[in-house]
Amino acid sequence: MESHKLNSLHDFIYKTCIKYNIDESHGLKHALGTVKWAEILMKAHTDISINEYNMIIYSAALHDMCDSKYRNIGEACEEIWHWLLKQGWTQDMSNTLINIITSMSYTKLKRKWVLGQPFAYPNHGIYQRAYHIVRHADLLEAYSVARCYIYSKYHMNWASEDEIWAETEYIMKERVFNYVNHGWLFLDSALAHVPALEAEAIRCIKERDKNYVF
Ligand SMILES: [Fe+2]
Repeated sequence: MESHKLNSLHDFIYKTCIKYNIDESHGLKHALGTVKWAEILMKAHTDISINEYNMIIYSAALHDMCDSKYRNIGEACEEIWHWLLKQGWTQDMSNTLINIITSMSYTKLKRKWVLGQPFAYPNHGIYQRAYHIVRHADLLEAYSVARCYIYSKYHMNWASEDEIWAETEYIMKERVFNYVNHGWLFLDSALAHVPALEAEAIRCIKERDKNYVF
């Protein structure tokens, strides 16, 4: 991607995070981490068009800028949509990106699954592969124990260090370490990285290592 477009993307995410108090666990670092994983996962495919590439990179970067934990989804989507048009995106492409980033949340997908409703991933047509690459990239980011610790600390600012670590360990073991068992991660290119990510996460939990390595 041209550097001025990348700078513009970083700038938009940075300013959005400040404006809406989006903490580091869902901020620029996580956005760039998700982009990094998306780029790794894309290497398994040799037929990615420029439109699909842009859809994947921008969706990976922007996916948490409309997180309902931090802000109103409708307003967020409108803001992102207008920003994309200013970047030269078509309305159709912008609509698709909004549809992707508002339908990939693990928490929302799991809610349907837990309630026993018939489960199917949303249909994004020719961008279905892009959707799953971005969704997988986001889930691979969740193996960072430091990121989970930051999230726990932000949402439990009353808690002791022991309580924050207990919550971190609970989220990692109950949620993240079950992504594969429960079928949320299924792309071979992602599964190949899971054993090493899980081993490192177990080490970080054991040693209470909260260095957020990017
Ligand atoms: Fe995310």
